[in-house]
Amino acid sequence: MRKYYQFAFITLMILGLLASCSQDAKKYRIGVSQCSDDIWRDKQNSELQIGAYFHDNVELRFAAAYDSDERQIQQIDSLVSTGIDLLIVAPNQVSTISPAIDRAYDKGIPVIVFERKTNTKKYTAYMGADNYEMGHLMGEYVATRLNERGKIIEVMGLKGSSPAIERHNGFREAIAQHPGIQVVATLQGDWTEPTAYNTVKQWLDKNKGEKIDLVFGMNDRTAMGARKAFEEAGGILPLFCGIDGLPGENGGIRLVQDSLLDASYIYPTHGDQLLQLAVDILEGKPYEKETNLMSALVTQDNARVLLMESEEIMRQSSNLEQLHEKASQYLDQLGNQRTLIFVALAAILLLLALLAGIYMYYLQRARIQDERMLMEREQLDFYTQVSHELRTPLTLIQGPLDQLLRTNDFRDATDNARELFSIVRRNTQHLTSLINKMLDAQVGTPIQEMTSAQVDAITVSQPIAAPAVEPEQDEDAPTVLIVDDNADIRTYLRSILQGQYRLLEAEDGKRGLELAREQVPDLIVSDVMMPVMNGLEFCQQVKKDVISSHIPVILLTARALEKQQIEGYESGADAYITKPFSPELLLARIDNLLQSRHQLKDLWGMKPVTEASVTPPQGTAVATTPIEDAFISRFKNMVEERLSDNNLSIEDLAADMGLSRVQLYRKVKALTGNTPVDLLRKARLAQAQKLLQESTLSVSEIAYQVGFASPSYFTKCYKDEFGTVPGEARKS
Ligand code: FRU
Repeated sequence: MRKYYQFAFITLMILGLLASCSQDAKKYRIGVSQCSDDIWRDKQNSELQIGAYFHDNVELRFAAAYDSDERQIQQIDSLVSTGIDLLIVAPNQVSTISPAIDRAYDKGIPVIVFERKTNTKKYTAYMGADNYEMGHLMGEYVATRLNERGKIIEVMGLKGSSPAIERHNGFREAIAQHPGIQVVATLQGDWTEPTAYNTVKQWLDKNKGEKIDLVFGMNDRTAMGARKAFEEAGGILPLFCGIDGLPGENGGIRLVQDSLLDASYIYPTHGDQLLQLAVDILEGKPYEKETNLMSALVTQDNARVLLMESEEIMRQSSNLEQLHEKASQYLDQLGNQRTLIFVALAAILLLLALLAGIYMYYLQRARIQDERMLMEREQLDFYTQVSHELRTPLTLIQGPLDQLLRTNDFRDATDNARELFSIVRRNTQHLTSLINKMLDAQVGTPIQEMTSAQVDAITVSQPIAAPAVEPEQDEDAPTVLIVDDNADIRTYLRSILQGQYRLLEAEDGKRGLELAREQVPDLIVSDVMMPVMNGLEFCQQVKKDVISSHIPVILLTARALEKQQIEGYESGADAYITKPFSPELLLARIDNLLQSRHQLKDLWGMKPVTEASVTPPQGTAVATTPIEDAFISRFKNMVEERLSDNNLSIEDLAADMGLSRVQLYRKVKALTGNTPVDLLRKARLAQAQKLLQESTLSVSEIAYQVGFASPSYFTKCYKDEFGTVPGEARKS
């Protein structure tokens, strides 16, 4: 049974593992270290996230340094320590962040430097726009916009950051080509609007009245900070140009469209492209070491179209977000369902294993039980057989010996002979008791006490003739049928019973049955273990047949066990005597059964004759059975129907009942104690008595009516039966 529980447990574990494995597919952890936190960075981060949706094995970990070198260094180190597979970094300044990037790279983590540059060579790939070109194009635009003449202010990005340096270089080199354009001030900003506002405000305070035609802020926020300062200062506003050109509410494109800025330059974010590069590196696919992102100028001429385009892109991005949200909900549900199915499957398997276990357990138990029963049965059969074999010769030693001890021959024997005989007798008894004990110990069933009692109860007094001399049979004595396959036992039984009973003998059940039907004996003594038809079946057949059903059957056998006796009684036996038996007990039993057999009341209101009135001793009553009741009532009806027929013979009655004359005679006699002829006469007389009392018919008329051939014979019979003449009944 334990094996099944182990099997079930292991199955459960495997299923659990399968379930968890399938949910735990390899994930790429990508760290993203942003130098700042603003709308440009937000846009890029959400593009990275959307890019990740296309790869279900990518996990992004974001960090923003808020323009602080120390913070960014610390964040990169901590991302590396959490165990990332790749680092994307936009370094705050060119030189300050390099050591942290080197540390990550040296640990074998691929590094993508994005948008801003460093002075380290330890990176896997770079992606970004060309900031020099951007500054240069803006310089060219400014010159054209001012028709080659005018004063301008340049507000820089964060000092030391690569875009600030490159944009400045490009811008100044372009402006240098246009001598009519004069850069009156280059102010230091840090990419934020408040710093730009402050620095421009200070310059305006110092240079009151100076006319400025255009301000170039290195990003849109810087340009707007400068605009605020100029607006506050009053006077004619110059033109403002910036870089970034973001879509959305406060983005540069709208600012250009609303004429708050004169121009901007789209600084590409391209987060999705960046993510793809990261995945390619992680998956070992070929990739570009340096990727230059293309860009474009935003002016009054194209702002409207660009805005529409970018809004469309934003709308699609938001749809994509929603779709992803829904998809992950479904995936979650699917995951739950899958877990549920696994659990249900495991439960079913467990249940099946359990059921199989229980089934096999019961199967095994039933098999053991069957085997044990078979063994017991074989053992019992063996001991029964052995005991039968031993008891029969024992009976044949013990019985004759006891008879011998009581004969005159023995009384004349010498003391020595007497002593020797008693030794034989004692040891026979001892052997019997040993057999009983052996059976008792082997089978564990108590052997009926009477068996051993019988051994000592051999006190038969009547002399029994030697088997060799066949005495005359007394034809009037009750008939006993002996059925036994052992000729010695038959001889011994004969020696016990003859003289008192007329005897019939058969050597097996089949022959016994033939004799029982033919002769209808008064009683049957039968062995159980016999060839052809055993005693139990024989007894059943006797009790089934209407001819013989009333005959008492004594089973005489070596099958001494209680359950074997029960079997015997179930077959219909009236008594069960075990071998070796006491002849006295057998005689007493036979006598007792014969005494108690006439149980039926007289059929026509008269007492049964002779020995029939003896009350049977307790426990031996031969109750009438339904077969007997049916037989008697049939017989009674038949007699009553044909009462007036004075030619009615017993042969006729027997033939009507499907029996021979002998069979009818013996059956009726056995059941009622009266012969059929007696009963027929009694029935006629009872009817006559009734007519005498109830009718006005003459005695002669009544005599004929009840089947008497002559009135004088009727009167004689009537007087014999009732003690009075018919005329007396008439008078009363
Ligand atoms: C965003 C930003 C942009 C600018 C870029 C330069 O953080 O300040 O506005 O164009 O960075 O690296």
